[in-house]
Amino acid sequence: MERRIPMILDCDPGIDDAVAILLAAAAPEIELLAVTAAAGNVGLEHTSRNARRVLALAGRQVPVYAGASRPMFGPQVTADAVHGADGLLGLPVPEPAFPLSQGTAWDAILQASKRYPGELVLVVTGPMTDLGIALAKDPSLAGRLAGVVAMGGASDFGNDTPAAEFNILADPEAAELVLRSGVRIAMCGLDVTHKAYFTREDIRRLEALGTPQARFAAAVIESGVDIHRRYGVEGSPMHDPCALLYALRPDLFTQVHCWAGVECKGRLTRGRTVIDAYSDAKRTPNCHWVTGVDRAAFVEETIRLLARYGGQGE
Ligand code: BDR
Ligand code: CA
Repeated sequence: MERRIPMILDCDPGIDDAVAILLAAAAPEIELLAVTAAAGNVGLEHTSRNARRVLALAGRQVPVYAGASRPMFGPQVTADAVHGADGLLGLPVPEPAFPLSQGTAWDAILQASKRYPGELVLVVTGPMTDLGIALAKDPSLAGRLAGVVAMGGASDFGNDTPAAEFNILADPEAAELVLRSGVRIAMCGLDVTHKAYFTREDIRRLEALGTPQARFAAAVIESGVDIHRRYGVEGSPMHDPCALLYALRPDLFTQVHCWAGVECKGRLTRGRTVIDAYSDAKRTPNCHWVTGVDRAAFVEETIRLLARYGGQGE
């Protein structure tokens, strides 16, 4: 096999983060160096524990570092209405099989970037607080990362406030810092994640794999079907798995190279991502804004990876 992608997954599990962890832990193409967890969907005490619970479910021992317990600036927002008070809908997930690693998420990211200069891929599926702190501590990190793939933002509408997507709203200043840092970054916002959905039929296929990991993934994905009907999505959008799969299979996605910034001040629009794909201003591009996905291939790839848990994958 070709050299594996050295990766850190920075997340806030969170039900869709949990599926992203299962995918990262299963993918033979990935060398999962660490999972780092920040506060986001629920508090840090839950996210840092849930990351280890999901790794226990995956049967993997990967270092988990706790990150930020609150945003760099501004008030904390959570999404426990969607993810449940414990962040995993109260589902029966194993207890952690190992303790947290010593040190912080941002130092773990900085250290790994020095061990793997130009190679480390960071997938961020929560607020960008840990990466923001790492870049504030050492701005040269931007040049050492092979790339960042982040789930966050939307060019059109919000899913938390009318204007803002949750991960960006949860720490707009961190997201703005990251986008201005010069790091190579692909943004998987709602534009693409609402196209990367699982239908009930896809969920049944996943369930039929029959393993604890696949059944857990099916249960959490199913919980998104009704919630997203109000957005006119025909299934359950795979927000965080989208960022993970983009890191693995960018060929499945379409994107525009453009400028993106974050509104940090607006009374109604705090946390809104502003995208310059078409304006006369033609601001200098700072990201790849992911716009579309081959949904059928996305579903197949997700099922292929989760099938590896039962030894059913290729
Ligand atoms: C994002 O917000 C969180 O609630 C999910 O885990 C995902 O990262 C979707 O807007
Ligand atoms: Ca998340």
